[in-house]
Amino acid sequence: MTTQANLPDLSHLWMPFTANRQFKEQPRLLAKAKGMYYTAVAGHQVLDGTSGLWCVNAGHGRQEIVEAISRQASELDYAPSFQLGHADSFRAASAVANLMPEGLDRIFFTNSGSESVDTSLKIALAYHRARGEGQRTRLIGRERGYHGVGFGGISVGGISPNRKTFSGALLPGVDHLPHTHDLSKNANTRGQPAWGEHFADELERIVALHDASTIAAVIVEPLAGSTGVLIPPKGYLEKLRAITQKYGILLIFDEVITGFGRLGASTASAYFGVTPDIITMAKGISNAAIPAGAVAVKREVHDAILAASASGIEFFHGYTYSAHPMATAAILATLGIYENDQLFKRAADMSQTFEDAAHKLENARHVIDVRNLGLVAGIELKPRDGAPGARAAEVFAKCFDKGVLVRYTGDILAISPPLIIEEEQIQHIFQTIGDVLKTVE
Ligand SMILES: Cc1ncc(COP(=O)(O)O)c(C=O)c1O
Repeated sequence: MTTQANLPDLSHLWMPFTANRQFKEQPRLLAKAKGMYYTAVAGHQVLDGTSGLWCVNAGHGRQEIVEAISRQASELDYAPSFQLGHADSFRAASAVANLMPEGLDRIFFTNSGSESVDTSLKIALAYHRARGEGQRTRLIGRERGYHGVGFGGISVGGISPNRKTFSGALLPGVDHLPHTHDLSKNANTRGQPAWGEHFADELERIVALHDASTIAAVIVEPLAGSTGVLIPPKGYLEKLRAITQKYGILLIFDEVITGFGRLGASTASAYFGVTPDIITMAKGISNAAIPAGAVAVKREVHDAILAASASGIEFFHGYTYSAHPMATAAILATLGIYENDQLFKRAADMSQTFEDAAHKLENARHVIDVRNLGLVAGIELKPRDGAPGARAAEVFAKCFDKGVLVRYTGDILAISPPLIIEEEQIQHIFQTIGDVLKTVE
């Protein structure tokens, strides 16, 4: 077993979204995971306050998933996904469709959130072209949006550091809605802010500027996670839906983190009662035990694309590992756990306790905002003068050493624990953050 004393050579691995040089000087390696806890190579237990990366919704090491994957690996390790299939890919598609809002029951499998996003954008373009409106190629994202790291995803995404290195090579014809965050109006809101619905009206401005006949789709996260937890104002998503519908523009909800119970419902779409035309997902779909993702598409959109092709392949897109047998085994086992353990309801039941515990930090040192919805909380810190992000980075590192995993983006801490979390574990996470904040300059 790897211990702190026999660490491997760290030089070859180029780590993603990581300060490689700093990490390798002070590595934080994980050795095991079970239930709500990681065990670090250094030996201590770490309470998982982030579901890994917003993905281990049913908790770690679920035996049902382990067994499903290993059974599948020995029975049918791989089946080509083009012009061939395997039964579980169809079963998994039905199981996912059952959790989607009514009408979004055509499922395309991918391996990640980034692939789901790029797939959804291509479906939007294919749909308009199939209907004879091939000039609708514009895609509208939102400032501070995160849609993965493919060229499509970073083009519609709105997180500047993810874009600037590649700015000359982003997709053309993309525009962005403004984000909805304003602490002068919304600080310390519990649940959805009452102020900010009007930000959706910006879509009218964008439509007037470019003309609706050039716009294919609007893509937003119904609740923005990676940028540091931005909760949609009341009425905002409803308005986006109304405006997109008025102009025949497809609405895509990127539910890569909100899908599968995060807000206490199967999807954020169901939670907010707003149905888009396409939903992207990944992460919680397989409890992250195996990479998997999917796109749920409204039946009319799917049917239009199929109908436009006289015969043969209707949509020239797909992945070698779409509906990989081990992914579909993991998806079926994961969705079974969500149902048997009623985990979405559990998340809903726990959300008040979670909200109350989070908001105890409102007056903690350095905290300028606490916001929350479902089992997601964002705690925004005042940035250190001249060193944005440094304060939250220090909180993250100190919490880890004290046995609690949190995430940070800039100076915002994000908490999104597995849906199996117990009440005292919720208290422990926020108590630890409060204790650590007292020790951070
Ligand atoms: C909303 C959203 N979309 C897409 C992605 C990208 O997913 P992946 O890292 O699996 O490609 C993420 C990842 O955090 C996400 O939060």
